[in-house]
Amino acid sequence: MKVFCIQFVLLVFSQSLLRAPDLTSAATLQPPPLIQTLSDGGDIGPQFNLEQSSETPQVIVVEDAKFWHNVGMRQLKKTIDNAKKAKEYSYANKAKNIIVFVGDGMGIATISAGRIYKGQYLKHGNGEEETLIFDDFPNTGMAKTYNVDKQVPDSAGTATAMFTGVKTDYGAIGVDSTRSELNAEQGRVESIMDWAQRAGKRTGIVTTTRITHATPASTYAHIYDRDWECDTEVPAQSVGIHVDIARQLVENAPGNKFNVILGGGRKPMGALNPQEVQTVKFEGPTETICARNDQRNLPKEWLQKHANDSVPAALVHSREELLKVDVKQVDHLMGLFRNNHITYSIARQAGEPSLQDMTEAAIGVLERGQTSSGYVLLVEGGRIDQGHHMNYARAALHEVYEFDLAIQAALNNTNPEETLILVTADHSHAVTFNGYPLRGNDILGSANLHKAKDPMVYETITYANGPGYFEHLANETRPANSSNVWKPLNLFTQEERTSPTYRNLAAFALKDETHGGEDVAVFAHGPGSNLVRGVFEQNYLAYVVSYAGCIGPAKDFDGSCSRGYAASPGDKITGSVSLLVAAIVSLLVAAPAT
Ligand SMILES: *[C@@H]1O[C@H](CO)[C@@H](O)[C@H](O)[C@H]1NC(C)=O
Ligand SMILES: *[C@@H]1O[C@H](CO)[C@@H](O)[C@H](O)[C@H]1NC(C)=O
Ligand SMILES: *[C@@H]1O[C@H](CO)[C@@H](O)[C@H](O)[C@H]1NC(C)=O
Ligand SMILES: *[C@@H]1O[C@H](CO)[C@@H](O)[C@H](O)[C@H]1NC(C)=O
Ligand SMILES: [Zn+2]
Repeated sequence: MKVFCIQFVLLVFSQSLLRAPDLTSAATLQPPPLIQTLSDGGDIGPQFNLEQSSETPQVIVVEDAKFWHNVGMRQLKKTIDNAKKAKEYSYANKAKNIIVFVGDGMGIATISAGRIYKGQYLKHGNGEEETLIFDDFPNTGMAKTYNVDKQVPDSAGTATAMFTGVKTDYGAIGVDSTRSELNAEQGRVESIMDWAQRAGKRTGIVTTTRITHATPASTYAHIYDRDWECDTEVPAQSVGIHVDIARQLVENAPGNKFNVILGGGRKPMGALNPQEVQTVKFEGPTETICARNDQRNLPKEWLQKHANDSVPAALVHSREELLKVDVKQVDHLMGLFRNNHITYSIARQAGEPSLQDMTEAAIGVLERGQTSSGYVLLVEGGRIDQGHHMNYARAALHEVYEFDLAIQAALNNTNPEETLILVTADHSHAVTFNGYPLRGNDILGSANLHKAKDPMVYETITYANGPGYFEHLANETRPANSSNVWKPLNLFTQEERTSPTYRNLAAFALKDETHGGEDVAVFAHGPGSNLVRGVFEQNYLAYVVSYAGCIGPAKDFDGSCSRGYAASPGDKITGSVSLLVAAIVSLLVAAPAT
């Protein structure tokens, strides 16, 4: 069976190298059954099914924590085996510190458009040749983002995959797909923050969204539904069983031990600022947020819990207060800067910090020099996603620009020899970057303006769906040109089109634009970064963190954690031997295949 498999792989490989893929031979394969493959011992994906004869009964296995653990460990083994074959041994280098940057909703189209936006915003030139800071990272890979129950995922399921190593259902946080509304313990999984704290590392989370929102919540909470951010959101049948996300942050580990908690979300935390000012009105379901009904002030409780810190814990509510914190002394910092999310950076309100400000403060609190055990930090650029949901292309791209600044700040403030930095997205969006605009054309401009005869000008950034449909649909005051259903772009004023709340066109009417289902990119820098290679299931990233950081389930994968920071020469010898064996095996099995 093994020989057959190797032959097949070599056959496909040599075919792809030598000539165009032979579709007729592919057609002779059995179509793979749906994903209900195996738990122990099996690989997943269609390649796995090659090993199964048609007589073998299909075993239906739940894709639970154990299943995804096996998938993650297999990917780790595969990646390491490939590295050894290529005689690349730096995969075993260990990271004292790990920073995971998540651009929520930052798919590839958004990265490319965001890069051009950055160049044009900074007036660096045409824009296309600009680099985002993570373009220069030495390693990249692609993550498959689907949830256990959805082809196109949400942030709760994907963040749980990245931070716990377990893919789960759409909407689930910190619990696997066996989750239960009636049992909060059911399917609970630990996060990279639990692993880090157990290893004596400092931990922190930074986001531009509410601190209780899906992505940050997946690092500390275990709950059936991401929407249960306040006590008032937990439905009757789950009251007394599931504790709301805000309470979990201050009551339970790992949240109650975080050294850094920075973001929005005063309202679900029970610390509303009634005087808050918002000068630009943004729309969307996410602009409203639940209120607590239990009269608890969770930030105040958090302060009391840290009352015995040798340096008093810091609770801040504005940029000014944040910058005054003595980050080299303070061990616990909470900053809640907004009742809801922090405002889109393109319309930043007085007193709001940037993601860069928060990232710098976080690293200041987490970094404690040579004698410390290091840290794990999540930084989320959380509103790229929300901008896209409202078809606010300009607001979304400006969030990418600010996200890039935060990554620059992290690079500037960390030692690359000891810090692994991952940059990725949880999922993509239904946004396209299209047309044939001329080189240097405004990325938020028209795709075909140079074609003077074209009666219908359209934009380079267009959405497949969303509320932008309504804004662009022709009506009596703004009629369509010829047979087109859309009003011509030149009927919008320049002021309208440059407003942060301008919506790009969406082809299908939805109140809320949707996510996209294609793979997302992962960029990696620092020790262990070359574990990020090829295409993998998104939950693998937790295993990269685990193996590189010597925390959690993959820390004993091989002896590399006990050997310390550099790969030992022993690895090289083993690597060469296995390379030789692999070469001989290939020669032997390749012969009959040709
Ligand atoms: C702080 O220390 C005092 C005195 O040791 C102790 O009684 C109290 O429980 C501690 N508080 C917390 C939140 O740990
Ligand atoms: C990072 O450092 C470079 C070089 O000193 C500097 O030009 C850049 O502005 C810094 N960026 C941030 C975001 O700190
Ligand atoms: C509609 O298209 C024609 C060309 O076919 C053009 O002359 C005219 O200006 C367009 N009208 C608007 C409102 O853009
Ligand atoms: C037509 O569209 C414009 C611009 O989107 C809008 O302001 C106006 O209210 C619409 N008119 C009608 C009658 O729907
Ligand atoms: Zn979203």
